Amino acid sequence: MTTIPDSVHPVRRAVNEEDSRRANRGDWDAYADEYQRTHGGFLGDTGFVWGPEGHQEADLGVLGPAQALRGARTLEIGSGAGQCSRWLRSQGAEPVGLDLSERQLQHSRRLDDATGIVVPSVCGTATALPFGDGCFDVAFSSFGALQFVADAEAMLSEVARVVRGGGTFAFSVTHPIRWAMPDDAGPEGLAVTNSYWDRTPYVEEDDDGRPRYVEHHRTLGDWVALLHRHGFVLRALHEPQWPEGHERVWGGWGPLRGRLIPGTAIFVTDRAGRAD
Ligand SMILES: C[S@@+](CC[C@H](N)C(=O)[O-])C[C@H]1O[C@@H](n2cnc3c(N)ncnc32)[C@H](O)[C@@H]1O
Repeated sequence: MTTIPDSVHPVRRAVNEEDSRRANRGDWDAYADEYQRTHGGFLGDTGFVWGPEGHQEADLGVLGPAQALRGARTLEIGSGAGQCSRWLRSQGAEPVGLDLSERQLQHSRRLDDATGIVVPSVCGTATALPFGDGCFDVAFSSFGALQFVADAEAMLSEVARVVRGGGTFAFSVTHPIRWAMPDDAGPEGLAVTNSYWDRTPYVEEDDDGRPRYVEHHRTLGDWVALLHRHGFVLRALHEPQWPEGHERVWGGWGPLRGRLIPGTAIFVTDRAGRAD
């Protein structure tokens, strides 16, 4: 989420897939430079961080043991500058990234050049994946597209199509409980001010009422039902604890709230069906 200028107004209201995509593409193109400048060092050019708590895939092993990743065909959805996929490549995987924002993908090219570890990436949306059926062993997203998409059914159906039977799909999103509170890392963020069950999207509108940035809320139960409908079997739900001594504030994530309630949910699933 960007710093909100005076000409942008936060509201809660319904937004369809097309308008969500248009708004978020523009927002991420405009925000990409600042995002990479602010968070790039924390993410690491070849690092795989699952969220603002700073937990690394190398420690959590969400996608399985490192030796199982060797040769794995992986798809990162909402890959940004491709840091996570670059880490996977360094472990011997064959990653591909996909992101809505061209500017984010230009940063990915920049890091390819800087590190010499190249992540082939395409510009596209999570609701229409430009890949063949069953061509990935693993699909994943670290705070990527999932909470920016209105049409979660289309997205999950696409992910189910491109991941082979027996493959893995894992993703992190803002922990749904956080939607009941202001997006504030300070004391104001400790109050419950909204209904957890209110799925109305968070929207930043311009002066003419057009959406400029959109996030969609799903409860834990919504995610479990969605995954089940699309043939994913939930294996784990990580709610990583705020690490001792970690003082970094990222938007609404910080040590004050982080020590009390989870800020990130990581869903880990197996794609039902046999490997072909
Ligand atoms: C918070 S960033 C996370 C990027 C990266 N995973 C990281 O950890 O830095 C969210 C990313 O999701 C992308 N995104 C948003 N909506 C998307 C969509 N519908 N399809 C694909 N990517 C999307 C944005 O362009 C942005 O790069």
